[in-house]
Amino acid sequence: MKKINIAIDGYSSCGKSTLAKAMAEKLHYIYVDSGAMYRAVTLYFLENKVDLEDDAAVADALDRIDIRFERGPEGIETYLNGRSVESEIREMRVSSMVSPVAAISKVRRAMVRQQQKMGEQRGVVMDGRDIGTVVFPDAELKIFLTADPAERARRRYEELKAKGSSASMEEIKSNLLERDHIDSNREDSPLRQAVDAVVIDNTHLTQEGQLKLALELAESRI
Ligand code: C5P
Repeated sequence: MKKINIAIDGYSSCGKSTLAKAMAEKLHYIYVDSGAMYRAVTLYFLENKVDLEDDAAVADALDRIDIRFERGPEGIETYLNGRSVESEIREMRVSSMVSPVAAISKVRRAMVRQQQKMGEQRGVVMDGRDIGTVVFPDAELKIFLTADPAERARRRYEELKAKGSSASMEEIKSNLLERDHIDSNREDSPLRQAVDAVVIDNTHLTQEGQLKLALELAESRI
């Protein structure tokens, strides 16, 4: 059967990765969380005190970063230079730094190159902010997910609480809105809905309902 690439973009905490993972599983495709790559770079920058304003230091750091995904007991895990960073990259200290890091063109160029490589054979579901516009402009299916900001903050809060985080609802909501603002207004590949994307507002949809809708869209293109 023909394999396609599926791009899922949208604002922070719209459930992009939940949908992308479920689609990849049903279709037996590879799932790529592009946000995890920007988060891993951010963790490296924090741990190595890389000055975001220093072009040479940023380039040098990017040369030293190796990001991979491997399947662990709890699902796909992100590895930074051989070490699993899956939970660390979800912490608030990374969330509050990731958008400024992801706005740096050098960082974007390095990540986009790797992401495009992963999609060369097709059969990839990738979620992020610029997948349908920049990474896979030729993706056969592009979905732009949206959801009400209060609902997004509530979902993120429940998710982080379940992982033992003490972040407050207010803190989470303001981080989401701030990231959306930076991501939508940066100069290099801002978050935009691709002209040929299908918009799904999942505020009132169940995960099953959303998955069914998305799979029907995929099947119509395979
Ligand atoms: O998807 P997630 O919320 O984990 O992404 C974290 C951050 O990474 C986003 O807020 C955005 O700044 C950046 N990002 C990006 N381009 C992507 C994916 C994520 O700029 N394709």
